[in-house]
Amino acid sequence: MKTLAILGSTGSIGLNTLDLVRRFPGRYRVAGLAAGENLEQLLAQVQEFRPRLVSVKSAALAERLEAGLRSQGMETEICWGAEGLVRVATMAGVEMVISAVVGAVGLQPTYEALLAGRQVALANKESMVMAGRLLNETARRHGGCILPLDSEHSAIWQSLPGERREFLARLTLTASGGPFFRCSREELAAVPPAAAVKHPRWSMGPKISIDSATMMNKALEIIEARWLFQVPPVKITALIHPQSIVHSLVEFCDGAVLAHLARPDMRLPIAYALAYPERLPLPFPVLDLAREGKLEFFAVDPERFPALELAYRAMEIGDSGTVALNAANEVAVARFVAGEIGFLDITALVAEVLEQVPRRDFTSIAAVMDFDRQVRAMMAAGPAADRG
Ligand SMILES: NC(=O)c1ccc[n+]([C@@H]2O[C@H](COP(=O)([O-])OP(=O)(O)OC[C@H]3O[C@@H](n4cnc5c(N)ncnc54)[C@H](OP(=O)(O)O)[C@@H]3O)[C@@H](O)[C@H]2O)c1
Repeated sequence: MKTLAILGSTGSIGLNTLDLVRRFPGRYRVAGLAAGENLEQLLAQVQEFRPRLVSVKSAALAERLEAGLRSQGMETEICWGAEGLVRVATMAGVEMVISAVVGAVGLQPTYEALLAGRQVALANKESMVMAGRLLNETARRHGGCILPLDSEHSAIWQSLPGERREFLARLTLTASGGPFFRCSREELAAVPPAAAVKHPRWSMGPKISIDSATMMNKALEIIEARWLFQVPPVKITALIHPQSIVHSLVEFCDGAVLAHLARPDMRLPIAYALAYPERLPLPFPVLDLAREGKLEFFAVDPERFPALELAYRAMEIGDSGTVALNAANEVAVARFVAGEIGFLDITALVAEVLEQVPRRDFTSIAAVMDFDRQVRAMMAAGPAADRG
């Protein structure tokens, strides 16, 4: 039985992971759960999966959770905040940590899990974008490993075995294009937050849905792929594929291209990481290509979707560039959701921030997090704060 700790258990990835745990009784045990504010969902999860330790976002939420659990006679230990996330990520006896909180808050617990030598099934791409090199080093030194959960990266991971690295020519991550990939710049300028969180092919949390709509999600994934597969940025590209059936393409020096195909269901890449190196007999509908009919591919238009170019610029700057890209995007998305800025301002703000970033590489997670805070403070104080 594999023992799991799930960070972000009430989110889209967390729920999909628990769905798999439920479907394979006797294979997985849940020792720890960490969530943010959704107490109702978390309470139900604690009742069903009986973890030893649970964490929530704040002390006040922990108090309410405690009242709920005790009223049902449950003695589960409760913790909270950034420290609570780390406690769940480093629990004794846990083999695999599912890192699936959203945003920069995922970095510290992901790092601590690797420091503790755990296998980390990584959905929280923001942590890889902020500190991929340091996370790789930490995994190597402490006997942990990082297994990708993102469907595109899982697809590449599944396509590489048996191939020699020197023959790899290019990785192509596919992107659905989000809900607006056919829209003009004028139409994009008028997109409201409610439309941006509705993804046409995937059911995901609000932040990643908006990232998909701006294509910043693909920008983050290109940076993530660079570190996960140790491939230089020049060999990583993206292609719009609205059907989301082909998840990635791996091209070799002889022109051969391996494509990974599957129905767009996050439970497939999650199951692959959970069971690795085995495969689970998943009881879901199989891919029916005759029914799909057509698979289309389009180049990304940099005029309407400048996010990919920002990813390459950020990587060219160095660690400070990718930390700044991530922080600026998180701030910009929050402002867009609050109605303070328009849809196109998200990538414009990120571009503005990248213009001002000094070139710096970091040798510790503390330095990465410190720079992340500096970028957010700069955005709160600077002219970018007045946009809208
Ligand atoms: N969804 C997908 O299909 C997908 C695919 C690939 C990669 N990813 C990546 O996976 C991560 C999660 O995405 P998602 O779509 O699952 O997001 P989501 O549905 O918004 O879920 C986010 C999770 O993080 C928790 N959380 C947020 N802030 C927290 C905090 N300060 N402390 C503790 N927990 C906190 C939330 O708790 P509450 O809800 O209880 O507040 C929730 O459990 C993101 O990095 C995303 O890019 C997602």
